[in-house]
Amino acid sequence: MRAFFSKAPATTSQTLDTENIPQHIAIIMDGNGRWAKSRGLPRMAGHHSGMKTVKRITMAAERLGVKYLTLYAFSTENWKRPKAEVEFLMKLPQEFLSIELNELIEKNVQVRMMGYKGDLPDHTLHAVEEAIRKTANNTGLVLNFALNYGSRKEMIEAVRQIGYSVQAGDLQPDEIEESHLANHLLTAGMPDPDLLIRTSGELRLSNFMLWQLAYSEMWFTDVYWPEFAEEHFHEAIQEYQRRARRYGGL
Ligand code: IPE
Ligand code: IPE
Ligand code: MG
Repeated sequence: MRAFFSKAPATTSQTLDTENIPQHIAIIMDGNGRWAKSRGLPRMAGHHSGMKTVKRITMAAERLGVKYLTLYAFSTENWKRPKAEVEFLMKLPQEFLSIELNELIEKNVQVRMMGYKGDLPDHTLHAVEEAIRKTANNTGLVLNFALNYGSRKEMIEAVRQIGYSVQAGDLQPDEIEESHLANHLLTAGMPDPDLLIRTSGELRLSNFMLWQLAYSEMWFTDVYWPEFAEEHFHEAIQEYQRRARRYGGL
């Protein structure tokens, strides 16, 4: 058993401060491939199993009253993977939503997507857009899938839009403020993540929400995404609740 399990006591939702639940949690869901490999399974089995974790953690977030859950599902760099793996990954939204959409609707979850739609296969995009449409009026947890998302591309696109405003004479370069950039990001209108979780022991951001994570609390675990349980999620939130967020102040 990995060290992680032996050192931490069980954390349950009862031990959490219900007054201090992060409003926005972002997760880099990593380690599907290594989880599969460690069991002698193909990488795809890891991705498939990771889908069950998506369901588990979405429901856990919903029960805790988290307002936004952003899940990094596919990066703008993940196209570099072998074609068969990319194709498999592109089928998962469809499969996930065909099984889970009704329950998401029942739980008042609003599905969103953050990423570049143009490069997605039609079947992937249709599944996601159907879920977005059918949940658009829901007022509970916002489940935001980062799909074909890359933070540098997001910032370049934002700068380009600002450039057009300047070119049109609607904005002076001197007037550019944080809000101009923030309003052109794919997260416009959303609060920045309070808590970032990355599974699988990697300690990097991999081009995820570079602007938005400026003051987020970060929590890393060695646990691979397919085995990331509700208990680990609660442990991350409990650790978050012990942190002092100073934002540069005292
Ligand atoms: C995360 O698991 C899922 C995606 C990036 C799509 P990985 O596929 O990156 O798994 P590892 O990191 O190879 O174990
Ligand atoms: C980040 O994981 C992207 C997602 C979880 C979707 P990667 O597995 O692609 O990141 P690197 O390559 O290890 O940095
Ligand atoms: Mg990985």
